[in-house]
Order: sequence, then C-alpha cells, then structure tokens
Amino acid sequence: MAVERTLSIIKPDAVAKNAAGAILKAIQDSGLRVVALKMMHLTEQQARGFYAVHKARPFYADLVKFMTSGPVVVSVLEGEGAIARWRELMGPTDSKKAPKGTIRGDFGTDVERNASHGSDAPETARVEIPYFFNASEIQAEVEALP
Ligand code: RTP
Ligand code: MG
Repeated sequence: MAVERTLSIIKPDAVAKNAAGAILKAIQDSGLRVVALKMMHLTEQQARGFYAVHKARPFYADLVKFMTSGPVVVSVLEGEGAIARWRELMGPTDSKKAPKGTIRGDFGTDVERNASHGSDAPETARVEIPYFFNASEIQAEVEALP
C-alpha cells in the first residue's frame, strides 16, 4: 500500500473540550505520523472555502458557523493508506452512530459537532493540505522512524 498524506482537522467542539491532545495521541498510537500541525481560528472566508463542495447543502451555513466558533487544530497525517485509516479511526459522520473507540464516538456529539475532519480521497487531500500548509511547514519524508 502506498504512503499517503491526509488533512486532519480537530474541530472547535473537540478543541473546546480540551480533547485535542487525546485525539493527537490516538492518531499517533494508530501508527499515523503527524508531519505538520497548527492551531488556528478559521475566518468565515476560510471555512466557506474549505467546505465549498457543500455550499448548496441545507447545513452549509450552520457548518460554517460551527467551524468558525472557536479554534481548530489542523494537521497533516502520513502513513500507508493514511486517508482510509484516518477516516476509519474517526468513525462515521454522525457521532451518534459512531462506535466507542472512534474519535467521533468518543468526542463528538451529533452529525454536525463531530470532533474531526479527514480528507475523503487522494484528490481531496491534494487540495486540502495546501489549503492550510506551505511545503516548508510539512516535515520531509523520513526513511524510517528511529
Ligand atoms: P468531514 O468532511 O468534516 O470530514 O465530514 P464527512 O466527510 O464525514 O461528512 P461530509 O458529508 O463531508 O460533511 C461535512 C461536515 O458537515 C457537517 N454536517 N452536518 N447537519 C447535517 O446534516 C450535517 N451533515 C454534515 C459535519 O460537521 C460534517 O463533518
Ligand atoms: Mg467530507
């Protein structure tokens, strides 16, 4: 399986619960590497642009409001099959349906306030990673972990 990179966002609900550290630990414990990381408070324009694919959906305005309601922790995760692995670790979109042991099951509340985001395909990751990070902010690929 190929080494991939994916974009992760720890959403404002999880940051407000002081759960960012626990989520980063779960990511690292799963074997994914955090190769870029920052905390930021998204502007309305950044949130609207990031979720532009959903702009015709009825939940778009609420989603933008939620994503700008407080700081988020944005990161780039790297590993073999990282895109699917991070989606699996997050669990389904609706936190109410997400099993315990998944990020959304443990830290989310409902279908909107679901603690985390993950790119859903290689093409999406290729757009989402540079939306938040310059190349100089991402750790270069390492041959092997020490
Ligand atoms: P994400 O993009 O954040 O990783 O989530 P996802 O792929 O699992 O779900 P997606 O369909 O892309 O939805 C994006 C985010 O919009 C909010 N949402 N609200 N009120 C609703 O029915 C509803 N549906 C989705 C969630 O925050 C979801 O993660
Ligand atoms: Mg999505």
